[in-house]
Amino acid sequence: MALSVAVVLIGIRLRKQTSKVAQASRQHSDDIKGDIQGMSHKGILVTGGAGYIGSHTVKLLGERGERIVVLDDLSTGNAEAVLHGELVVGKTGDRALVESIITDNDIDTVIHFAASTVVPESVSDPLKYYGNNTCSTRNLLEACRNTDVRQFIFSSTAATYGIPENADEPCVEDTPTAPINPYGTSKLMSETMLRDLSAVTPLKHVILRYFNVAGSDPDGCIGQSSPNATLLIKVAAEVAVGKREQLYVFGTDYPTRDGTGVRDYIHVSDLADAHLASLDYLRSGGDSTLMNCGYGHGFSVREVIDAVERVHGEPIKVIEEERRAGDPPSLIAATDRIHKTLDWTPRFDDLDTIVRTSLEWERELQRRARSQK
Ligand code: UD1
Repeated sequence: MALSVAVVLIGIRLRKQTSKVAQASRQHSDDIKGDIQGMSHKGILVTGGAGYIGSHTVKLLGERGERIVVLDDLSTGNAEAVLHGELVVGKTGDRALVESIITDNDIDTVIHFAASTVVPESVSDPLKYYGNNTCSTRNLLEACRNTDVRQFIFSSTAATYGIPENADEPCVEDTPTAPINPYGTSKLMSETMLRDLSAVTPLKHVILRYFNVAGSDPDGCIGQSSPNATLLIKVAAEVAVGKREQLYVFGTDYPTRDGTGVRDYIHVSDLADAHLASLDYLRSGGDSTLMNCGYGHGFSVREVIDAVERVHGEPIKVIEEERRAGDPPSLIAATDRIHKTLDWTPRFDDLDTIVRTSLEWERELQRRARSQK
């Protein structure tokens, strides 16, 4: 209990520190428009709202005037990335803390991003993933059951599919799940708990299975900041701006059109927007559901490299390597369900746009690093 009070106090202090950043980046007209739209609804708890996808979603929620409380332990997130709402620094698995946030802020919706997400790390440290992802989600769900939470939106992953049998076909949502790493399993277990709880309580949920998330907010004020990134487009952008020497291509002998892995890259702002559409869907009485979140078409590693060189205007250093363990040849979302269910129209379904916003964010990170010296 003492610990809970301490983290709330840290949260209050951080709220004050971040409010200036928040105010600076808010657009006045958006706030007025949003205030009208979000006014009649109860509050939203966003776990992991200081992280990559969470902060982009908080930005969109804030711009339309939703009342938000962000809960983040800042283990990988940044307080400055929280542009709207209040930030409480604490753990998602701290049931007493979560219950008090929900009750004190009249919250009826939880959007749950907080998680550990690095696949190789999940293999070397599985208990971290079952703890941070599965056990924390279990406690969060208990807090939701004990309070008045009615809507729950959960960040899941295409990693729940493992290596799909038919590599050429997009993955439909009822493809049997067969995760091949603890990360995917930890998320699948959370999906199961959420479905089981929804079956016996008034809670309604949307599970979004993300494909390959990339790019940065087009306004340039937030992006992916995690150090030691492993994601292809982030790594390629770091090579382009000179933060890394070279990009390794993991495998050139896959049964794909050019031998390299194919993925469905979705711009983070479109993914964030899918959360707002999921929220509207649940608020208008939609049933619990699970949806893939991607564009429904893929690019190979070589095609991504071509796009980076095209947008950057210069070649980047590339070294061909062996396959990386556990990589499926191709992973593409079937998107019929999300388009039928949600009022969601992607705005950034263009590889060059995804790459351009990634490059701009890398340059912005360099500027910020220089100005701190
Ligand atoms: C990502 C997600 C995973 C999700 C999956 C959905 C993370 C950490 N991973 O994994 O949770 O289930 O999307 O499709 O969020 N590659 C290289 N060189 C590099 C990095 C990657 O060649 O330096 C290749 C990989 O072999 C793969 C492709 O690029 O073919 C994409 O890899 P990556 O960006 O790491 O994402 P996924 O492994 O697909």
